[in-house]
Amino acid sequence: MEQYIITGGHELHGSIPISGAKNAALGILPATLLCSGVCRIENLPQISDVRNMLDILASMGVRIRYLNKNAVEIDTTHMQNVPTPYEMVRKLRASYYLIGALLGRFGKAEVALPGGCDFGFRPIDQHIKGFEALGATVQITEGGIVQVEAKDGLAGASIYLDVVSVGATMNIMLAAALINGQTVIENAAREPHIVDLANFLNTMGADITGAGTDVIKIRGVEQLHGCTYSIIPDQIEAGTYLALAAATGGSVTVTGVIPKHLESITAKLSEMGAEIEEGDDTVTVRRDSSVRMRRINLKTQPYPGFPTDMQPQFGVLMSMAEGTSILTEGIYDNRYRYVNELRRMGAEATVDGRIAVFEGVERLNAAPVHAPDLRAGAALIMAALCAEGTTVIDEIHYIERGYEDIVRKLKSVGAEIRLVEIPDGAALERAN
Ligand code: EPZ
Repeated sequence: MEQYIITGGHELHGSIPISGAKNAALGILPATLLCSGVCRIENLPQISDVRNMLDILASMGVRIRYLNKNAVEIDTTHMQNVPTPYEMVRKLRASYYLIGALLGRFGKAEVALPGGCDFGFRPIDQHIKGFEALGATVQITEGGIVQVEAKDGLAGASIYLDVVSVGATMNIMLAAALINGQTVIENAAREPHIVDLANFLNTMGADITGAGTDVIKIRGVEQLHGCTYSIIPDQIEAGTYLALAAATGGSVTVTGVIPKHLESITAKLSEMGAEIEEGDDTVTVRRDSSVRMRRINLKTQPYPGFPTDMQPQFGVLMSMAEGTSILTEGIYDNRYRYVNELRRMGAEATVDGRIAVFEGVERLNAAPVHAPDLRAGAALIMAALCAEGTTVIDEIHYIERGYEDIVRKLKSVGAEIRLVEIPDGAALERAN
């Protein structure tokens, strides 16, 4: 098993290049199935979720050629619409995008129900509502396989999402791109990765307008073609490193970003007392570690509100801010599994449903902790880099799902972090 060994307690200084957006890549890669041709995808993050998605595509006869560590050529000319491998799909929540893409291209799909990080119940009823509105029938077998088929073909429709859902918005766009007629998605999600998927589909020859607003119009086209496309920078990766700089103190610049995508995050960092400086494609956070952060209240919302994927990272900031901070999770039922781990490091926090209350402490203490999910794992790295002493973080495979080269990037700004491989028995020994 792999662990991070982290020694904290000092400021960080330097700049970090930001990789392509995980949640854009995970929609764009399956979108290549909508054409029979060759797509070249650039600025692809080297993370395990992307590698898993590429493996799933390859299992369907798609030819993948790495041009370099962040660019692939995807040739779908000889692919077959075969059921996707259950175990591969179960690991990846974004595998549900295969349903929309295969339904849109072939009129049918058979994909296992998605897995992904566990924040409580994560249904796909809005995805199903969209597919049925377009004319497909949807069945979920006892084995947890989603079978979707449009026996009489698909037709454009107007779909009002009961919940602002990133996944459902993207999945309906995928299913509708090749449909005869117009599809309108109302109450659509507005995240940057929604816009990126729409831009990619339009580069393939689709006709999609309104992405980034809550009404998206998809006018179906006869055929899509291969293209070359570069993925937008990752808003959450950048936000995580900016939050880290505010936590440890010092001065860190993230480069190759779109500052507008980070506005809700930098606004809250500024409210806590950090100094923010924006460039064309950079954002710098500075903070004097001898002055404590100010308390804040925060609620996560769909974009352009404060992103839920930055919630654990701000829980760490709040655990050290001066005074009482109140954190409300507006998207998921249970995204506080990291709070128990923070308590082991000396945080004073209580959780009641979707609300966490933090009584800020001067400093966290090193302790052995587990990463319960992707963003919580990143938050625990932040906490370890603030704590006096050396912290060991287990279950780091979660973190490697979404943060490319995280050890190298952190070391480049002065963090003391190393990855160690330990035999599983030793891990069990420590757990006991
Ligand atoms: C995407 O998940 C992201 N994952 C998540 O990021 C992110 O937290 C989430 O969007 C919100 O921004 C990927 O893009 C791969 P939703 P998704 O559908 O699409 C409910 C990360 O750390 N809902 O917007 O699954 C749902 O339960 C990951 O990178 C329904 O009720 O999220 C949730 O409460 C974690 N019915 C809310 O909507 C549905 O059919 C938002 O979910 C779909 C969702």
